[in-house]
Amino acid sequence: MKIEDPKLVAAIRELGNDLERGTSLAELTYLGIGGTTDLIRIHRHEAIPDLLNLLDSQGISHRFLGGGSNLLVVDGELPFVVVQLAKPSDEVLIDGNIAAIDAAADLGRTVTFCAKHNLGGMEGLIGVPGTVGGALRMNAGAYGTQIGSYVREVKVYRAAARRIEILKGDQISFEYRHTSFAPDDMMLSVKLELPSKPFSEILQGIRICNEKRRASQPLGQKSAGCIFKNPPGASAGRMIDELGLKGFSVGDARVSDRHANFFVNAGKASASDMLALIANVRERVRGAYGVTLENEVVVWNA
Ligand code: EPU
Repeated sequence: MKIEDPKLVAAIRELGNDLERGTSLAELTYLGIGGTTDLIRIHRHEAIPDLLNLLDSQGISHRFLGGGSNLLVVDGELPFVVVQLAKPSDEVLIDGNIAAIDAAADLGRTVTFCAKHNLGGMEGLIGVPGTVGGALRMNAGAYGTQIGSYVREVKVYRAAARRIEILKGDQISFEYRHTSFAPDDMMLSVKLELPSKPFSEILQGIRICNEKRRASQPLGQKSAGCIFKNPPGASAGRMIDELGLKGFSVGDARVSDRHANFFVNAGKASASDMLALIANVRERVRGAYGVTLENEVVVWNA
């Protein structure tokens, strides 16, 4: 979508936001798939309510983008603009066992920054790509750690109330790859309470997780991590593997040879290739196991 009205363009910029025209979502997502639209980068959280009221008043719909690591976007000219937080200069502030983190901060860098301040607990999240806000939104987890366990407070733009609110950790429920945030809530910052641990011990944990990940996941390739959630008591990756589907492809969208729940863009995969591959694999798993796999990847349809 192109924002045409020069007055609206000026008003967006006057609120302190950057407006980038015709941005390719393929360049902003780890899958390397997605069409084009205008992108608004927000520098001040306080400007968000005015910005979104402005877009709404002009009938312009929007989507919030985090780090783009768990996202599949359709192709072509997108019928919505994309809103993303700009990276702040101070991503993490430490006070005792509390780390106050901007939602736009990179998750991996945050884990190591906290480690250097002898704050641990998040070792398992080290190789999870994306932003802290994205991880929070869906309660990212790996190797027995989930970010929700450490949340003490979240600053969030609540679209339903059209205002910024501070929520305490116990007002939010964190489940497996799911939280009680509304789909249109926008994470702004979070306070995590982390256990004290010597840096050397945290580093050891980080090394172990990195090795496990390198051994089982296709790290150098374009992917959105696991495509499906694990059904209760089972592994989507193992089921897909058992059906002999590693390497199965639609166009350049391909089931990874390394981990069957990772689908990679092996070249110039389109969104429809990837969506067809997802639908096909889901159907085969349903036929063989009677289980309907749920997407873990977030899909932005037109
Ligand atoms: N397996 C296979 N073949 C495969 C893949 C896995 O047989 O192609 C088997 C493994 O040998 C293992 C079992 O399935 O016995 C589980 O595999 P793995 O340990 O790789 O974990 P997973 O359940 O597939 C989950 C998360 C990952 C996270 C890892 C490590 C989900 C959907 N996936 O994967 O998260 O990194 O555990 O904790 O919960 C993600 O969310 O995007 C993601 C990659």
